[in-house]
Amino acid sequence: MSTPGNDRTAGPSAYPDPVRVLVLVSGTGSNLQALIDAAKDPAYGVAIVAVGADRHDIEGLERARRHDITTFVCRVSDHPDRAAWDRELARQIGAHHPDLVVSAGFMKILGEQVLAGHTVVNTHPALLPAFPGAHAVADALAYGVRVSGCTAHLVDSGVDTGPILAQRAVPVEDGDTEATLHERIKTVERTMLVDVVGRLARHGHTVTDRKVTFS
Ligand code: GAR
Repeated sequence: MSTPGNDRTAGPSAYPDPVRVLVLVSGTGSNLQALIDAAKDPAYGVAIVAVGADRHDIEGLERARRHDITTFVCRVSDHPDRAAWDRELARQIGAHHPDLVVSAGFMKILGEQVLAGHTVVNTHPALLPAFPGAHAVADALAYGVRVSGCTAHLVDSGVDTGPILAQRAVPVEDGDTEATLHERIKTVERTMLVDVVGRLARHGHTVTDRKVTFS
């Protein structure tokens, strides 16, 4: 008899319903691509139901379109204020009924309407709580750290302050620029994110005093 996970030739019907994941992007979308590739395997347990962005004309949206994934754009500048943008983004996300939202290089702070309705995972290019914010790689280099890395965490109302799901260390090399260090981090980050999203999808999680357990 076919059972999920031990019969790689089994069709999708051998697996339980995949977890519906919506990915938010602002740029290149290489983390999104890693999730798209992982989700091709039914055993991974994830269906990417939509990709949202805060801007047009980015590679992340093109990657989604190439894989026939529905896309939408919700720009702050098209709304009277951040609260109205937050409401509209929450509405657009909700229309796809995701079980999980993944912020994969989405360069905006999510508002309370989005966070109230969804579990959101963010990936960040530093070892939090060091170097939160939009310039993490440059900040780590400027500080002179010899090791940096990446963090996957649940999003709360702060800036990169939510409970940590996973972290990976990456060495800083002599002569690194922001670009070279960020590329080295992203190579590790993609594997980390695929692993974390898969574990959340297949096992679920609980949070106790900031400590996350995959259950
Ligand atoms: C990733 O390194 C992600 O951690 C970072 O943007 C990059 C997106 O790369 N996010 C932040 O800095 C958020 N503060 P990608 O577009 O190739 O996936």
